[in-house]
Amino acid sequence: MRVALLLIGFGHVGRRFVHLLEELRPALDARGIEPVVVGIATRRHGSVFDEAGLDAAQVARQVASGEMAGPSSSEQPAHALIAQLGSLSAEVRVLVETTTLDVRFGEPATSHVRAALAAGAHVISANKGPVAHAYHALASEAAAAKRRFLFEGAVMDGIPIFNLVRETMPGVRVLGFRGVINSTTNHILTAMEHGEAFDAALARMQAEGIAEADPSLDIDGWDAAAKVSALANVWMDARMTPQDVRREGICAGDAARVAAAVAQGRRMKLVGRAARTAGGIVTSVGLETLEVSDPLGGLDGQANALEIDTDILGRVVITQRDGGLEKTAYALFADLVEVAEMTSEVVFRGDR
Ligand SMILES: NC(=O)c1ccc[n+]([C@@H]2O[C@H](COP(=O)([O-])OP(=O)(O)OC[C@H]3O[C@@H](n4cnc5c(N)ncnc54)[C@H](OP(=O)(O)O)[C@@H]3O)[C@@H](O)[C@H]2O)c1
Repeated sequence: MRVALLLIGFGHVGRRFVHLLEELRPALDARGIEPVVVGIATRRHGSVFDEAGLDAAQVARQVASGEMAGPSSSEQPAHALIAQLGSLSAEVRVLVETTTLDVRFGEPATSHVRAALAAGAHVISANKGPVAHAYHALASEAAAAKRRFLFEGAVMDGIPIFNLVRETMPGVRVLGFRGVINSTTNHILTAMEHGEAFDAALARMQAEGIAEADPSLDIDGWDAAAKVSALANVWMDARMTPQDVRREGICAGDAARVAAAVAQGRRMKLVGRAARTAGGIVTSVGLETLEVSDPLGGLDGQANALEIDTDILGRVVITQRDGGLEKTAYALFADLVEVAEMTSEVVFRGDR
């Protein structure tokens, strides 16, 4: 089955994704899935579109070295290319949305998702903005269009989170959750325990492409707040945005608190939380002192973990010991396979 892919956003995640498509080609062949990258759009590096298919790995190398093949196709390349994707006769059309996180409004990603669904394409995304700001509206639009809107990479990279609950916990009610869900801050806090400077640890996360393009989104707790909002919207039927999450970040001045916790045999962690209360769903991101025996307290470096509190299964903990770009790219891969397999079954199962 030919699957036409339009990539909007072609930074660290998008480029790693196209290489992963090649590396995992046997797994795709075994499923009869033939992905063809027909278009790539960026903000400052131009865009390209070719219905016959692009050499995406080659374009990735060009973008990494600062230039894109071919001219920008219009003043608003992203929306122009979405329209072109919609007009293709390919069996399956998919928008891969990996633009920069906009924590205030979730744009332009939300508009990209909306336009693609309206044009008849499925959407897979690692961008938490649309889920944190507009999940319910987009899920309704996807269901009405009989298309999927999947975003496994939005939280905990490639570790199954959204699909874990969606696919394996039918009828289970999520009562709340708590988690260490921002790799950059956990790496910095771990480094500070060893006496390393805040700025040096942050610089390492920027060099590895793990920190957000604007790293203040990580250290001020915005990325974690966007993830809390996304999880609460999807699992707890909340109607919130990142701005509704009570939020605290970390700073170089926390070194003394980190050292004091270590001296007591404990650890400081930036924890995102949501709970159902009589007054509604309460959410927060804040620095907490945890026992090392706590599933969140034992996390080192880029490791993440999420404890999901459920009515039937009790508390379920899922841990990601090794973070990294490849994992986020894998989340897009897993979403792609789900879209393609759902289409080949010719059974549309709604917005499960
Ligand atoms: N990096 C990670 O480990 C990770 C993990 C999980 C989720 N995510 C999420 O994945 C997304 C991508 O992350 P990344 O690390 O790949 O970011 P990145 O390296 O900064 O790349 C962002 C890409 O989006 C493009 N872009 C921005 N605004 C655009 C617009 N209006 N139209 C078209 N293209 C636009 C940029 O183009 P220019 O380069 O030309 O500006 C760039 O190609 C983000 O939403 C992030 O939160 C990242």
